[in-house]
Amino acid sequence: MSDFIKTARKLPPEHLAIIMDGNGRWAEQRGLPRVAGHQQGVETVSLVIDECIRHGIRFLSLFAFSSENWGRPRQEIDALMGLLLQYLSSQRQKMLTEGIRLRVIGDSSRLSKPVQSALTEAEKETSKGQTLTLILALSYGGRDEIMRAAKKIAQQALDGHLDIEQLDNKSFSAFLDTGDLPEPDLLIRTSGEVRISNFLLWQAAYAEFYFTDVLWPNFDAVELQKALEEYSQRKRRFGLTDDQNEPQIKESND
Ligand code: FPP
Repeated sequence: MSDFIKTARKLPPEHLAIIMDGNGRWAEQRGLPRVAGHQQGVETVSLVIDECIRHGIRFLSLFAFSSENWGRPRQEIDALMGLLLQYLSSQRQKMLTEGIRLRVIGDSSRLSKPVQSALTEAEKETSKGQTLTLILALSYGGRDEIMRAAKKIAQQALDGHLDIEQLDNKSFSAFLDTGDLPEPDLLIRTSGEVRISNFLLWQAAYAEFYFTDVLWPNFDAVELQKALEEYSQRKRRFGLTDDQNEPQIKESND
C-alpha cells in the first residue's frame, strides 16, 4: 500500500451523517417515558457535536425527525418539537462562539410556525459559522426530497427556464435540500437496526455505512472513535479501480 493511501485513510470524513435511533428503547429499559429517551438523546447530540469539532469533521447531518415520524402520538411529536426549541435557545451562544452553522433540510412547511421561525432565525444568525455545519433533517424523507426536487425541475422546464436535455447528476443534486452541501462520507446508524429508513437516499450513494447496537442515548466519544477508525480502514472506490482512485485521493490531500 502506498504512503499517500495510508495518509488518506487517516483523514476524518468531511461529512458525517447519523440516524440517531434507540431513544425509545433506552427509556423503556429504564421504565421511563419515551420522551426521557429523547431528552437523553439531545445530550448525545451536544456531545457528538463537540467530538466532530475535535476530529475536524466539517459537516454533521442528524436525522432528527422523519416525514414518517408525523404518525407518532401527538404527545411525542410535541415533546420532540419542544426539545428542539429548547435546544436552539440553549445552544445559541455556543453555536455563535464556536462557529457552528445551522442548516435545516426537509419539508419545513409541515412544522409549526414557532418552530419554523426559530429555525429560520437560527439559520440566519449562524450563517457565517466556519467550524462545523450542523444539518438537522426535520420533517425529512429522502423520497419526499427527491419528489420535491423533481417538481421544481418540472416547473422550471414548463416555464422554459430549464432544458431537460442538460440535466445531469450534478444539476439535479442542486435542486435537493442539500444542493450546496457535500455528500456524506460516513453514515452511522445506532440501535442495531440495519437500514437507511429514507435518509439521504440520493446523497448516500457512495457513503460508507456503519451500524452499531449501541442505543443513541448511550453513544459517546468512544463509540464515535470506533466508527471513525473503521471508516479509516475502508477502501473507497466510487465505482472505479484502485489505480484510478489513487490520484484522486492524493489530490484531496494536497
Ligand atoms: C429515534 O429513536 C429517534 C427519533 C425519532 C428522534 C431523534 C431526536 C433526538 C435525538 C432529539 C433531536 C433534538 C435535537 C435538538 C436535534 P426512537 O424514538 O425511534 O427509538 P426506538 O426505536 O427505540 O423507539
